[in-house]
Amino acid sequence: MPVYRPPSIRPSEITPEQVYLSRRQLLGGLAGIGLASAMPRASGQSMALVEPPLSFTRNARYSTPEKANSWSDITQYNNFYEFGTDKADPAQNAGDFRTRPWTVTVDGEAELRGQFDLDSFLKPHALEERIYRLRCVEAWSMVIPWVGIPLGEVLKRFKPTSRAKFVEFTTLLDPKQMPGQRYPVLDWPYAEGLRMDEAMHPLAILAVGLYGRVLPNQNGAPLRLVVPWKYGFKSIKSIVRIRFTEKQPKTSWQQSAPQEYGFFANVNPAVDHPRWSQKRERRIGQGSLWDRQPTLPFNGYADEVASLYRGLDLARWF
Ligand code: MTE
Repeated sequence: MPVYRPPSIRPSEITPEQVYLSRRQLLGGLAGIGLASAMPRASGQSMALVEPPLSFTRNARYSTPEKANSWSDITQYNNFYEFGTDKADPAQNAGDFRTRPWTVTVDGEAELRGQFDLDSFLKPHALEERIYRLRCVEAWSMVIPWVGIPLGEVLKRFKPTSRAKFVEFTTLLDPKQMPGQRYPVLDWPYAEGLRMDEAMHPLAILAVGLYGRVLPNQNGAPLRLVVPWKYGFKSIKSIVRIRFTEKQPKTSWQQSAPQEYGFFANVNPAVDHPRWSQKRERRIGQGSLWDRQPTLPFNGYADEVASLYRGLDLARWF
């Protein structure tokens, strides 16, 4: 049975990634029988406040063996323009963001539609951990142990009709809580979209946690998309609406600079961004500022996803 624990913050429950890593195997084994939350907890750690542990099973098939980035890399170096445009802004400004109560609206071309409280939205699904590479369009990357649920499983529940060709996702619009939305940096609210077959691909997930804990606000709490073969901007945060559409939805970055950001946004070292190369990337937290590693087609997930784009000119449909 999936266990999704609502927020209740206790500083004694903070787990740094080292403690998490040594426990990960064990937690994976215990998940599902509700014992994970009974594990001993690290105490006295002076880290940012995080939530109690989640129960999950580890999905090894869809996890990279690469070393995960540290908790602090993942939670202090963020893009979340609703909380500011500097990498340090989201961690600094998202602390008071309220993620409960939280409603997800599902509408458009589906037999079942409606507004769902987040916990009931998530309830039928068992949580999985998946360690994915995230490649940002800005030519840096990280390895992140997400906890989430396969997006396709969620979408199926709402019985999309034959007219549903795309799925649109929208972030909360709340300039009172999200100071970045008081400035016209993007046409708010942040919006993203996937073609239906991309959304149904088993690699696409909705994440609710990382490092075995509820998502910190700066990483897109309480619910965000993760599409590991696409540039990070597709992985929209703090989702309040999922809409099935017949037409390709408008997406924030494509609207803002169509010559730079396409709808597909598949990681592609062969197609440069107009202002910089996409051939290489800096793995955050590794080596010096100047070290780069080659970027892989579809961010290393080509075996799984390249067939989705057979016959498509990826330089045109970037
Ligand atoms: N979602 C919203 N709502 N607002 C944003 O600014 N930034 C995107 C994506 N999702 C963004 C967003 C970009 S550019 C990246 S690289 C990833 O979130 C970063 O996710 P992370 O901060 O968890 O690493």
